[in-house]
Amino acid sequence: MTRILATGTLIALIITTILGILLSRTITRPIADMRRQAVEMRKGNFSRKVKVYSDDEVGQLAYAFNELTDELMEANATTEAERRRLTSVLENMSDGVVATDRSLRVILMNDQARDMIGLAEEEAMGANLQNLLEFDDEIVIPEDGTMPPKLIDLSTDEELFLVRAYFSPIQKHSGPITGLIVVLHDVTEQEQVEQDRREFVANVSHELRTPLTTMRSYLEVLAEGAYKDDELAPRFLETTQNETERMIRLVNDLLQLSKMDSKEYTMQKVKFDFIQFFNDIIDRHEMTKGETIQFRRKLMKRRVYVHADQDKMTQVIDNIITNAIKFSPEGGTITFRTMLRAKRLVIGIKDEGVGIPKSNLKKIFERFYRVDKARARNIGGTGLGLSIAKEVVSAHSGDIWAESEFGRGTTIYFTIPFDTIVEVND
Ligand SMILES: Nc1ncnc2c1ncn2[C@@H]1O[C@H](COP(=O)(O)OP(=O)(O)OP(=O)(O)O)[C@@H](O)[C@H]1O
Ligand SMILES: [Mg+2]
Repeated sequence: MTRILATGTLIALIITTILGILLSRTITRPIADMRRQAVEMRKGNFSRKVKVYSDDEVGQLAYAFNELTDELMEANATTEAERRRLTSVLENMSDGVVATDRSLRVILMNDQARDMIGLAEEEAMGANLQNLLEFDDEIVIPEDGTMPPKLIDLSTDEELFLVRAYFSPIQKHSGPITGLIVVLHDVTEQEQVEQDRREFVANVSHELRTPLTTMRSYLEVLAEGAYKDDELAPRFLETTQNETERMIRLVNDLLQLSKMDSKEYTMQKVKFDFIQFFNDIIDRHEMTKGETIQFRRKLMKRRVYVHADQDKMTQVIDNIITNAIKFSPEGGTITFRTMLRAKRLVIGIKDEGVGIPKSNLKKIFERFYRVDKARARNIGGTGLGLSIAKEVVSAHSGDIWAESEFGRGTTIYFTIPFDTIVEVND
């Protein structure tokens, strides 16, 4: 009896143990599986699936877990796509964009903004906006969130660089302001144009006022009785006449420049031999230049045909020659040269005058620019001659530039594309 009972108990125990192990396996295995998957998901791997062993609660849990994995994967992909879209928009914008938190520390910045400010990538994050943009006065985000745009000067010693910053606070449904978005827009060109315009108007007014004040004082003296003076009256009248002439010249030059600025302006181009044409102009100046200045011609013996506006070209050459004569010392020689370079005729006019400092070589082609203002005005220049020359030469697809050794002389070169060359046998 006892043995039978003992054996029965033992067998029952063994069966229970086996059943227990089997049962616990079916519960713990899927749970261990899910744990492993959760670890993988944390690493960003959503591709694994939990095996569903049964249809009971544990099986349903595994099934729900798989669904959750799918949804998470989708949500993750959407966020990633959004992020990529935002990055590509930010990176392809021509404007710089900076986002900051409430305390104005940078949390996002695109490449353009970094380039504008001149920052390395690692320097940008967490930096303070105030320091980055070098604002003098403190940036405060007002409660109503409206901030006027600001002009920021980021120029270096060599280059002008102006940026306009537009601010918009980050705010959700009129809740508290949580940060600031700053859009940086390059306005250098706009500002430069505006600055040039202001300078131009100032120059014109100044140039017109000088002869007018001179005339007024002379006319006042004449009106006060000097008109009766046989000696003074003609002198004073001559001066006023000269000043009037100067003003007319100036206004004509200005009109011409403004006409050339407008797009409709067309040149009256005809085909002619430039060498012969150049020779004729030099002849004309040779008659009026005076004894003290020598002319030397090193012109080609060929005929070089060009397509150009003769009146305008005459004006260009006249001005360069007049300048050369004006700035030549007594006994100076002016050399005229023509050369062929890469499909272009190059004209060089060289003098042995005062020369132009290296730093001003480009500026002499700017409107109203004169190296030595006081001196140039005495010899009667307004500083428009070479800027007109530059416009004319560009309208003929040519270039104009100056080479000079200060104190030793100047050469002005300009080029013009040529049509045909005809050899001359004599
Ligand atoms: N050959 C030269 N030698 C030295 N300086 C020159 C020479 N040519 C031009 N410059 C400088 O360049 C400036 C500009 O020349 P530009 O011909 O444009 O004006 P301008 O001769 O003063 O006046 P305008 O030609 O309108 O009567 C001159 O004032 C002068 O300072
Ligand atoms: Mg001149």
